[in-house]
Amino acid sequence: MTAQILITGGTGTLGRRVLPLLPGRVRVLTRNPRPDTDTATATVEHVTGDLATGEGIAHATEGVSTVLHLAGGPRDDRTKAHHLVRATGPRTHILFISVVGADRVPMVSRVDRAMFGYFAEQRAAERVIEDSGRPWTTLRATQFHDLLLLVVRKLAGLPVIPVPAGVRFQPVDADEVASRLAELALGPPRGLVADLAGPEVISMDAMIRSYLKATGRTRLLLPIRLGGRAYAAIREGANLAAPTHASRENDRSFRTEAEQAEAEQAEADGGRISWGRFLAGSLSSAGPAAGVTGR
Ligand SMILES: NC(=O)c1ccc[n+]([C@@H]2O[C@H](COP(=O)([O-])OP(=O)(O)OC[C@H]3O[C@@H](n4cnc5c(N)ncnc54)[C@H](OP(=O)(O)O)[C@@H]3O)[C@@H](O)[C@H]2O)c1
Repeated sequence: MTAQILITGGTGTLGRRVLPLLPGRVRVLTRNPRPDTDTATATVEHVTGDLATGEGIAHATEGVSTVLHLAGGPRDDRTKAHHLVRATGPRTHILFISVVGADRVPMVSRVDRAMFGYFAEQRAAERVIEDSGRPWTTLRATQFHDLLLLVVRKLAGLPVIPVPAGVRFQPVDADEVASRLAELALGPPRGLVADLAGPEVISMDAMIRSYLKATGRTRLLLPIRLGGRAYAAIREGANLAAPTHASRENDRSFRTEAEQAEAEQAEADGGRISWGRFLAGSLSSAGPAAGVTGR
């Protein structure tokens, strides 16, 4: 049987979680040759290719009707999207995972690009897909718990931890993003859909402190201020999705009924797993997660 669905990034944090949720035979693009494996729910076929160079992409997209493009990152996103689009047929549904804030974090200076260029890369890839003439769906998600845990773990290794002042996150669980993507992959193209974010907004400072407390460590946190417009926008919350319930109420009078219904649906469909719950779960295999509370 020929695969109907291709996943780029199917070997990554998110892709590995989406894979078992998809029915039938699924093709996974990777830069590193791997043996094919069968999982309980999907037969997985690996193809080798590189989206940055375009090598192997025509072969990877052969015969597929849906592509989940999950191989974005801080570099080459526009190029990767171009190579992908060029290799797909005009009726192929391209489903892209982007980041909340892709359209709201300004890139004016070198400092902006150096620190937060990822947002611009993701927006550039979104545009390539929107303008491709292919049917498309884009889901923007906030930062995954796993990524933030990686960052926090690294920072906790320092004797003094520099923390960009005022930076907040609305972390979301990668399993919840994977479920939403699987739903979208099996439905019709929807264009830009409602953002997917976690249930709480948490400062970087609080996130680090919760990790230190849970792992029984003490460190000095040193607030630092960065320059640039992108940092200023992030301090204003450009990387956060859902407004608080109160501001939704304030927004109500400015929305059409359809917009209001969509906003309420987005809130109902938002991620439910908090940072605290994720952290407790992640640390429990390595020891007790003292002092961490979950929902
Ligand atoms: N992590 C977050 O917090 C977050 C938040 C919002 C959106 N997103 C987006 O979600 C997507 C997945 O994130 P993730 O955390 O799962 O990423 P990840 O774990 O770093 O995985 C990256 C994946 O992309 C593939 N890849 C990278 N460069 C490639 C290339 N040139 N050609 C082909 N494949 C390539 C890798 O495959 P191989 O190594 O096997 O080649 C790998 O499977 C990304 O697009 C990211 O921008 C992430």
